[in-house]
Amino acid sequence: MASGTTVVILAAGKGTRMRSRRPKVLHPLCGRPLVAWVVEQALSIDADRVVLVVGHGAEEVGAAGQAAAGSTPLEVVVQEPQLGTGHAVQVAAGSLEGAERVVVLYGDMPLLRDESLAALVLAQREAGRGAIAMMTARPDDPRGYGRILRDPAGGFERIVEEKDCTPAQRALEEVNLGVYCFDGPALLQDLPRLSSENAQGEYYLTDLPGLAVGEGRPVVTVNLADPHEAAGVNTVSQLAEARWVMQSRILEAHMEAGVLIEDPATTYIDHGVEIGAGTHILPCTYVHTGVRIGEGCEVGPFTHLRSGTVLADGAQVGNFTECKNSTLGPGSKAKHLTYLGDTHIGARTNIGAGTIFANYDGKAKHKSEVGDGVFVGSGTIVVAPNRLPDGTTTGAGAVVTRSADMQPGDVFVGVPARRLPQRATAEES
Ligand code: UD1
Ligand code: CA
Repeated sequence: MASGTTVVILAAGKGTRMRSRRPKVLHPLCGRPLVAWVVEQALSIDADRVVLVVGHGAEEVGAAGQAAAGSTPLEVVVQEPQLGTGHAVQVAAGSLEGAERVVVLYGDMPLLRDESLAALVLAQREAGRGAIAMMTARPDDPRGYGRILRDPAGGFERIVEEKDCTPAQRALEEVNLGVYCFDGPALLQDLPRLSSENAQGEYYLTDLPGLAVGEGRPVVTVNLADPHEAAGVNTVSQLAEARWVMQSRILEAHMEAGVLIEDPATTYIDHGVEIGAGTHILPCTYVHTGVRIGEGCEVGPFTHLRSGTVLADGAQVGNFTECKNSTLGPGSKAKHLTYLGDTHIGARTNIGAGTIFANYDGKAKHKSEVGDGVFVGSGTIVVAPNRLPDGTTTGAGAVVTRSADMQPGDVFVGVPARRLPQRATAEES
């Protein structure tokens, strides 16, 4: 059944304050672009439509948004030129016809929680016809935010953008977070009334609540208790702060699921990593998006697990081991100074200290297969593509070239590595 709610995400801005060529909302936060986090917030509301307003880097931003939305189609609207947040919603007006209510989110607010958004929508519904609900907070540092003006009785009056503030207004502590839920038909009526007569010469979305008050329509403010949720990312330094908060949330969720994280302060785990209960993550470890770790594994200290790594139950990777697009089977170990690239390793195999799977020949990446119960001696280099079948052994310092042709149970030693003749067994002699 239709919920009557449409969400509009504003993501057309350049992000001048980032001083970067990359559009702001494409900057990554814990393994995914800022805009992806906001699309996820939008999907948490039971919305009929999600509209993404793009401009700078339109194609890339649209694609990143759609990737985050998965099978839910986004309506992508291009705002060109970008004349302000109010103008961005004006450009999307065609997609808002018939919506009972419209939630507007800014693409630079990755930390907002689903519960807070749900509370905002509820507040708008309860406030009645024509109402606007908007989020406010009292952050430690209000700089950069629009300030909330209230009348002597404490009623909401209007929002003043910082650049338009008098010194007295600038001293106000309550700020506009830039998250709103509008009555749909009232929004469509009000949008054409915005003017650009202000310090920035822009059409401010933030003038709408003041217009509504002028007409006696209700404007309700929902105060956010946790100021971290309020962070809009405008600068590189704010991006780093937001990453910090998001990282703690991700680690907290893993710890609640029984992952033993010894030192959260030096553990980096991106969005979208699966880790089984009872796995021990030791300090100074970086786990990227797209990694799966089983139960009872040990990772770290000082381990780098990149996309496509899969550790089966009980596998162990230790200091200065980097894995990319590689699998370690149950109980297998690569504990010291090792690079596993495009390598599939079976069960109970030991990868000795200093082993390198040389997967790149300067032109292309190649795969290697390592079987069960293999013993790879310290300092082995395996030139890919290659195969180390079940039960094989390499001697310390062996260089296993592409032409090695190892058979199950073989022992290879030397440079280039050659088959070591097996001693005759008692039965054969
Ligand atoms: C905005 C609010 C401010 C609020 C703050 C909260 C306005 C005028 N001001 O300021 O009151 O305290 O957010 O973080 O809304 N965008 C477009 N098209 C445009 C301009 C912006 O799509 O023409 C997008 C940007 O990509 C961005 C979002 O709107 O994702 C907010 O724009 P930004 O310039 O960051 O607004 P602030 O100055 O932070
Ligand atoms: Ca902002």
